[in-house]
Amino acid sequence: MAIEIIGTGRAVPSRRVSNDDLAARIDTSDEWIRSHTGIGNRHIADDHTATSDLALEAAKNALAMAAGFSGGSGSEEWNRVVAEAAQSIDVIILGTATPDYVGTPSTACIVQHKLGAKQALAMDISAGCTGFVYGLEVATGLLSLGRGRKRALVIGAELLSRVIDWEDRGTCVLFGDGAGAVVLEVNDAPSEGPERRGLVRSMLWADGSGSESLLFRRGGSRNPFKPGETIEKGICVEMNGQEVYNFAVKAVTDTANALMQADGIGVDDITWIIPHQANARIVQAAARRLKMPAEKIYLNIEEYANTSAASIPIALDELNRNGKIKKGDLILTIGFGGGLTYGGNIIVW
Ligand code: ACO
Repeated sequence: MAIEIIGTGRAVPSRRVSNDDLAARIDTSDEWIRSHTGIGNRHIADDHTATSDLALEAAKNALAMAAGFSGGSGSEEWNRVVAEAAQSIDVIILGTATPDYVGTPSTACIVQHKLGAKQALAMDISAGCTGFVYGLEVATGLLSLGRGRKRALVIGAELLSRVIDWEDRGTCVLFGDGAGAVVLEVNDAPSEGPERRGLVRSMLWADGSGSESLLFRRGGSRNPFKPGETIEKGICVEMNGQEVYNFAVKAVTDTANALMQADGIGVDDITWIIPHQANARIVQAAARRLKMPAEKIYLNIEEYANTSAASIPIALDELNRNGKIKKGDLILTIGFGGGLTYGGNIIVW
């Protein structure tokens, strides 16, 4: 029994904000942002869009692909195919740090309702930028139980523009909005041996000692907003960039080494590494330590900046739709982020 990805999708807001656009408003420059992060642009949602809206669009695109629909999106036929495919979904897992609502309902439940996925259980995963990587393993676990669940939707979706202090040049240049999704299916392919397919291995870790390195300090039960309180800023992300940088380089290196060792594979066996797109420098530093050729590492941070839990499924969908993955290719995903959390998956396409 294998658990394979049979559809991928993404949704990115059309509004593109360049480094020069930001430099017109705050004290920064295209040169600084590119040289320190590799970021050139980010896509920012309009005021009426919530995380679930992007998640829904990405999920629909993944469902259409899973159903084998090759025409354009949005047509009557496309809607019919998507609605039918949604009926077959048993599990919806959505990784996000920027849910529609604090607490409940989960963003996954909103997506479940809008898709009409009536038989699906639905829940969010809070694992920061590692949310999608965690989500793949949780969904695989549920599908592996053999309780009649055959298909899962795993989504990473974020509206980071809502939790950014646009006056803080140390963080606001780093993030963007977006969503990515995959459809997983249980099938009869082997999950071991030379013909193995699908999600064959995951390794996940957490290190809560670093929880203060990246957090939304206000708004939760520890520091709630109080009635009558005048607030100067909404909920916004605070980050110790240097601490996260050091953690991230080690997280990428350790995860890749652990996965390769556990699986008995080497650098040459890997077709693509899809790392969380937080900072090109983090990835390049880790690649040097791993002696990993740069051309095996997929980077799209120049276009989208850091979309947290959405960055890996967006990258996976780009590679897939551009025909850059073929059957049998071995893909390593590597996530790291708030919590702190980190880990990765091995997927044989
Ligand atoms: N434009 C211009 N100057 C800036 C900017 C900016 N946007 N931001 C900071 N600076 C200045 C600082 O004020 C500082 O100036 P000073 O020396 O006069 O005080 C100087 O640049 C250097 O600042 P540092 O913070 O030391 O810059 P650093 O080289 O560490 O880069 C960065 C900062 C890019 C945030 C880096 O630490 C980093 O990438 N950390 C990893 C964090 C990360 O990727 N987070 C993403 C979210 S977490 C996640 O996804 C897991």
